[in-house]
Amino acid sequence: MNVYDSDRMQDLMTATGYEVIDTAQGADMVIINTCHIREKASEKLFSDLGRLRPFKEEKNLKGENMIIAVAGCVAQAEGEEIFRRAKIVDIIVGPESYQTLPDLVGKVKREKSRQINLDFVPDNKFDNLVANDKGVSSSSFVTVQEGCDKFCSFCVVPYTRGAEYSRPVFDILNEVNKIAAKGAVEIYLLGQNVNAYHGLNSDGKNSSLADLITQIAKIDKVKRIRYTTSHPKDMSDDLIKAHGKIDKLMPFLHLPIQSGSNNVLKAMNRKHTRQDYFNIIKKLRESCPEIGLSSDFIVGFPGESNQDFADTMDLVEKIGFTQCYSFKYSPRPGTPASDNINQIDEKIKNERLSKLQSLLTKQQIEFNKKFEGQIIPVLFEKEAPKSKNSAKNGQRQILGKSPALQSVVAEIADDKMPESYFGKILEVKIIKSRPSSLIGEIVTL
Ligand code: 5AD
Ligand code: SF4
Repeated sequence: MNVYDSDRMQDLMTATGYEVIDTAQGADMVIINTCHIREKASEKLFSDLGRLRPFKEEKNLKGENMIIAVAGCVAQAEGEEIFRRAKIVDIIVGPESYQTLPDLVGKVKREKSRQINLDFVPDNKFDNLVANDKGVSSSSFVTVQEGCDKFCSFCVVPYTRGAEYSRPVFDILNEVNKIAAKGAVEIYLLGQNVNAYHGLNSDGKNSSLADLITQIAKIDKVKRIRYTTSHPKDMSDDLIKAHGKIDKLMPFLHLPIQSGSNNVLKAMNRKHTRQDYFNIIKKLRESCPEIGLSSDFIVGFPGESNQDFADTMDLVEKIGFTQCYSFKYSPRPGTPASDNINQIDEKIKNERLSKLQSLLTKQQIEFNKKFEGQIIPVLFEKEAPKSKNSAKNGQRQILGKSPALQSVVAEIADDKMPESYFGKILEVKIIKSRPSSLIGEIVTL
């Protein structure tokens, strides 16, 4: 979602005459869009600000200014404290009020004063975003829902992103139609609790995420639809059925469970059990047998015993995931779990994380291996990194995504440029699998 928000901030500022450049040195304005989910992510802000200081001083010596804005969830959580810790910051703006950035920049310039806006008005935010007039990427994010009312005991999101909010259907269809006309082939629907979506439809009733996906699937130029991130509690039967019914809905689901232990799930205030998760996965696989599954895991949650961790490993063994994210528990200020006296030793957290990640990697390798020799449709999006530099030695390569969200690398034909493949879904024969990608040959053009 921060990628989507950063793009929207870029649209807002380019509409007022700014241009995007490659480096912060010499820039008239720098926006740092921040994440507060784990401690490591939020620490980055102050080291980034330290790196910007000499650039701002350089501009000041020339009699010019560099406006520095801190946006996102660290801005929301730390507020004025950022002004106190970092003298070089001019603007602090939260994730639900960044539509006011152009105004705040105007005030900084006119009034020579620091500006802060941490309001929560998501409908106002979406109404005030501007459309960019350039091309869009073939796979594009669209935020459909924001915020969270679930209050898992480890998580800052309900505090930084606020209460759950769903954008109205017409507003989303408008944005999807616009970006599809500019070249978006795949639409990635975003929300912290995307499957809790209940936006207003033109008939005055609320639409579920499955209803919304059904409507988006009718747009001719849209060929693929994905959504993230879902909560098990909101995995409704109509959404599960949609995976079997709507061809454009890709056979992949990221469904965080966080832990395989019922004790830990309860302490996390997750509102579901491991059995609920097994039931959902069973129904999903009945609806769409080839579905690829992903999840988030936290190890070392306060009070997690050896048996609790063994329950997580057992759940992973039983489900079989295709790619996952796993983290060490990181105490976040203001969340209930951070005050728990049963914090787990860092050494144990490291050991558990490494065991879990070995198992997840093994499952990912096994899943990818099954694709060797198969022909699958791949949406190509960009040139493979390093491919340009090594073009003299070998063929340039392009990068795309399989239906199950694996990265697929393929060589391009001698007489073609990489760009001519972008935005196309081509049949690719998989020659080799790697732990986190597939290597293939394009069989159709
Ligand atoms: N510590 C570790 N991981 C966390 N996540 C959220 N909060 C924390 C925390 N305090 C993880 C969860 C969530 C993902 C986005 O980040 O797994 O699903
Ligand atoms: Fe955080 Fe997700 Fe729990 Fe909401 S449902 S509190 S976003 S982990």
